[in-house]
Amino acid sequence: MNVYWLEQTEVDVRSEDDWLHASELVRLRAMRVPKRRTDWRLGRWTAKLAFAAYLDLPAHSRFLMDMEIRPAETGAPELYFADKPADASISISHCGGRAICAIAASGIELGCDLERIEPRTDAFIADYFTDAEKAVIARTSAANNPRMLALLWSAKESALKVLQTGLRADTRSVMVNPGNILFSDDENCALSMCAVTLVGLSKAGGNTTRRSSGRWSHPRPPRRRSFLPPLTRALVGPVGFEPTTNGL
Ligand SMILES: CC(C)(COP(=O)(O)OP(=O)(O)OC[C@H]1O[C@@H](n2cnc3c(N)ncnc32)[C@H](O)[C@@H]1OP(=O)(O)O)[C@@H](O)C(=O)NCCC(=O)NCCS
Repeated sequence: MNVYWLEQTEVDVRSEDDWLHASELVRLRAMRVPKRRTDWRLGRWTAKLAFAAYLDLPAHSRFLMDMEIRPAETGAPELYFADKPADASISISHCGGRAICAIAASGIELGCDLERIEPRTDAFIADYFTDAEKAVIARTSAANNPRMLALLWSAKESALKVLQTGLRADTRSVMVNPGNILFSDDENCALSMCAVTLVGLSKAGGNTTRRSSGRWSHPRPPRRRSFLPPLTRALVGPVGFEPTTNGL
């Protein structure tokens, strides 16, 4: 299974709106909150560039405006090309002026999430994490604690995006097993990605358990990119983490 992702920052986004689909222009004009407009444009831009690179198409406005990212009823992004469903599955996240889009063949359910590394309260840990995750957090050194928390939270959001519930679901219904993680200490964002295929479906004790394998990484600090940067290929499999969802 090949999963790719692309990262862009606000400065990468074309200032004109000529790359947006007509229906996207209508949605944009209806948005009143400047930050929402900026995040939304950045997410669309990143997703369209990811799709262009995935198809090996030039990232000309005339191709980009033929692409449309429509929200499903759940809010999950769905990709259309020339007004038809595209043969690709995507997930979008934005955080602090950066966005990522994970992309894979249609049929692969994807979730990705960018999360800022910052101190969290004990109440946050108590309320949102499973006992097994709390044990992982307790074993993590104080220096790496904010990174571990950001990664676990980011992986949870990724998995909940795969399930399309988002935070409507109890975050403890998804259990993240981070495996062995090596932290680098110069990053301020955590990135996690997970992808699920039907191969991972199994029945255990009356509950359906979906295992998703994924990968997480710390992206490099933002930097100026060329107009169409290469996609990063995420090898989803033995490395990384395995969120397990129970009873969903
Ligand atoms: C999905 C959710 C977890 C995203 O959380 P976030 O960290 O704030 O935002 P991120 O930048 O990481 O992700 C946002 C993107 O997730 C995607 N997304 C939204 N809902 C999604 C869902 N149910 N499933 C998968 N992806 C979803 C969208 O592409 C969205 O970006 P866009 O609106 O610009 O297209 C969160 O919005 C959520 O839980 N939504 C469901 C609950 C809800 O509708 N709440 C209403 C506001 S209180």
